[in-house]
Amino acid sequence: MEIEAAPRKDKNEGCHGGHLIFLKARAVSRDMGFIYEEVVRRGMFELDCELAHELGVKAMEGLGRFTPACRLLEAATRLPSSLYRPIEAFGLTFPNAIGLAAGFDKNARAWPAAAALGFGHVEIGTVTALAQPGNPAPRMFRYPEQQAVINRMGFNNDGAEAVASRLAKQAGPGKRRIPLGINLGKSKATALEDAVTDYLTSFAALADHADYLVLNVSSPNTPGLRQLQDVKPLRELLGAIMAANRARAAKTSGKVLPVLLKIAPDLTFPQIDGALEVISEFGLAGVIATNTTLERPGYFAAVGQAGGLSGAPLGARSTNIISYISKTTHGRLPIIGVGGIMDEKGAGEKMDAGATLLQVYTGMIYRGPFFARDLSRAVAARQRRF
Ligand SMILES: Cc1cc2nc3c(=O)[nH]c(=O)nc-3n(C[C@H](O)[C@H](O)[C@H](O)COP(=O)(O)O)c2cc1C
Repeated sequence: MEIEAAPRKDKNEGCHGGHLIFLKARAVSRDMGFIYEEVVRRGMFELDCELAHELGVKAMEGLGRFTPACRLLEAATRLPSSLYRPIEAFGLTFPNAIGLAAGFDKNARAWPAAAALGFGHVEIGTVTALAQPGNPAPRMFRYPEQQAVINRMGFNNDGAEAVASRLAKQAGPGKRRIPLGINLGKSKATALEDAVTDYLTSFAALADHADYLVLNVSSPNTPGLRQLQDVKPLRELLGAIMAANRARAAKTSGKVLPVLLKIAPDLTFPQIDGALEVISEFGLAGVIATNTTLERPGYFAAVGQAGGLSGAPLGARSTNIISYISKTTHGRLPIIGVGGIMDEKGAGEKMDAGATLLQVYTGMIYRGPFFARDLSRAVAARQRRF
């Protein structure tokens, strides 16, 4: 186990004993990636994919209850002072570029431990107005050779009110270690024509708890949802949410919340142009590119599993879309780049394409809980070279 000198002192390092514990925590966190890939992952991959995911959420939930352990780990995993460069985007400060993508922590149970694992932000959800069980299991499938996952979870979640009550007991905006985004979707039982009301209900329940909000109109697992990406329904949705957002800000004399739109990788460039016009018309804070794909490239042409494909096969398409949006908006619209980041190279490519921040999900399944720590270091070191 390698131990190196700590680059900066903080309150965890005040005494000699504390310093040693800190160094041990750092060494442990560094070795964990290796241990995960060699040992833990083997065991996890013997389990059903969703069960393994649930265990991961429970482990983070457990860790999140031990604040001193979280702080110690966070001190060990955060960027060294030589690399530390916070990222300012849509009025928020992110300690590093790497976030946990929506879908991992659907019900706001795991996020309090995320900073300890090296994440610079978390997006919880998708949360819907109504609690719903999602699609029948099995509904999540790994493809280790392809470094991919197919899921058709279908927005299983506790519903906006229950998630809001959970968030009310946790650290709120302004008191968090890292920004928290809340990703909103449409309840399955709500007809597409009533989608706006459904999103407004979730907005009303959750806006006070969010550092930023995401309108998810791109999941492939809720019938009809992706039609909300078309210009006409998108205008209605964005218009209504931003009006509610401004009304809330006026009432609370607070700020208008940053709202981002999460888009599918299966949109054509003209469809993306349409979405970008609506985003600009209503002053959204940014775009998240991308969700999972319905495409079945290469090996997946012969895989009969329905749902959204994520991981390595999605990487290039997602990067192309980021690049297209960045060029079209002359780099002025903040982009959260997500889709198939499996290593430092993939993260660098998305930053080069114009992403301001990044998110990972499938990569963490394959690389382990400290994947964000490794990526954030690599991205920060890389940016320093330019
Ligand atoms: C099991 C699973 C569940 C997901 N659930 C959601 C979700 O509820 N809402 C959402 O916006 N994206 C969801 N996603 C999509 C991810 O947030 C991300 O956009 C996508 O997986 C691409 O990133 P990745 O290749 O790093 O996984 C889910 C992905 C997976 C694998």
